[in-house]
Amino acid sequence: MERKNLIIGLFGFGCVGKGLYEVLEKTPRLNARIKTICIKDPNKPRSLSSEHFTFDKNLILNDPEINTVVELIDDADAAYHIVKTALQAGKAVVTANKKMIAEHFQELIELQKKHDVPLLYEAACCASIPIIRNLEEYYDNDLLESIEGIVNGSTNYILTKIDEEKVSYANALKDAQEKGYAETNPTLDTGGFDAKYKLLILIAHAFGIIVKPEEIYNIGIDRLGELELNYAKEKGLKVKLVAIGEKNSDGNINAFVMPKFIEKSDKLYSVDDVFNGVKTKSFFSDTQFFVGKGAGAYPTASAVLSDISALSYDYRYEYKKLNQEDTLELDNSVLLKVFLRHDLEYGNSFKLLFDDIQETYSNRDSGYIIGVITLENIREIFAKQGLESSIVLFDLVKKTNSQIAKGIRVQHTYA
Ligand code: HSE
Repeated sequence: MERKNLIIGLFGFGCVGKGLYEVLEKTPRLNARIKTICIKDPNKPRSLSSEHFTFDKNLILNDPEINTVVELIDDADAAYHIVKTALQAGKAVVTANKKMIAEHFQELIELQKKHDVPLLYEAACCASIPIIRNLEEYYDNDLLESIEGIVNGSTNYILTKIDEEKVSYANALKDAQEKGYAETNPTLDTGGFDAKYKLLILIAHAFGIIVKPEEIYNIGIDRLGELELNYAKEKGLKVKLVAIGEKNSDGNINAFVMPKFIEKSDKLYSVDDVFNGVKTKSFFSDTQFFVGKGAGAYPTASAVLSDISALSYDYRYEYKKLNQEDTLELDNSVLLKVFLRHDLEYGNSFKLLFDDIQETYSNRDSGYIIGVITLENIREIFAKQGLESSIVLFDLVKKTNSQIAKGIRVQHTYA
């Protein structure tokens, strides 16, 4: 198959945009040329001469010679307008903007169909790991049971620094920002929002389910404190921010983002620094594991490059699982075994929200509860303003068949 000639209009020349420019220079066989680069800030010093740049987005969007738009800006609203206009103009689009995709997913899928143009976004999830195309193409069957992964590089970098080098949270975050891993608004990383957007995209390609960002519950690493970090150390566990999408016994999907205690035997245990790792579990193949750098200029640019290459062979996502008849639904009635740290004054009221309690502890200022609780009750606890609590997941708790049949809540089903 002959490669298409791609004439690219690039939006954004920050960390990833520059990385892409350099990577493209090194891959002449790709038949892809950046014609125009649109940037926002005229005062930033640039590594290329000024004739490469424009400040007018229409010079790209209205240029009939440009057949491919690569969008690498961090303003999700501006990115949405660029991507939408480009698709409407019949241009293929590559984007890395997970927030923008998550907020407009359904519409973006419809626009691709209506204008018969592809939108690719491998770089939006786990940077260098080719996870979307694998979920889309390889697992094209009903047998995929779950995906679980570390999908945010910055938070993994921060947790590794705190764990291994005893660096303070603030300094580790600053370091992640300086290395170009964090979002411009780092709360998106530390609050688990970035991981949520990625999970939303991943479950669409894994299970054919499209939900809104507010439907997936996310708790980040910004609440973690000494009590739970010390607990992890004592037990030989690591704390990682994980995104989980799992088919439950009713065949619906549980999906959420939360810090989790990871055991040594778990593949995610050795996924440190800026690396991301995703485990898939399916009926016959059991667990498979993908790992790679999850943030930074070159890892992200490499995924953008791979999408550009795929476009040159006319690749597009077919969203096969979305078009299945028996569509799945998001189900938040999942039971979780967790470690909940709380202010002393809340201990008794929080205990009432647990289905089962395994261990409690308190010192002079705070305490913790280890037990089984529903995701809905966790949401209720953390909806309280100004709460000094944090939560770390041990695992999902499966209901037994008889409990499901009787509709009763779980007792001791975990080891
Ligand atoms: N801020 C993101 C992260 C960038 O840290 O994973 C890559 O999506």
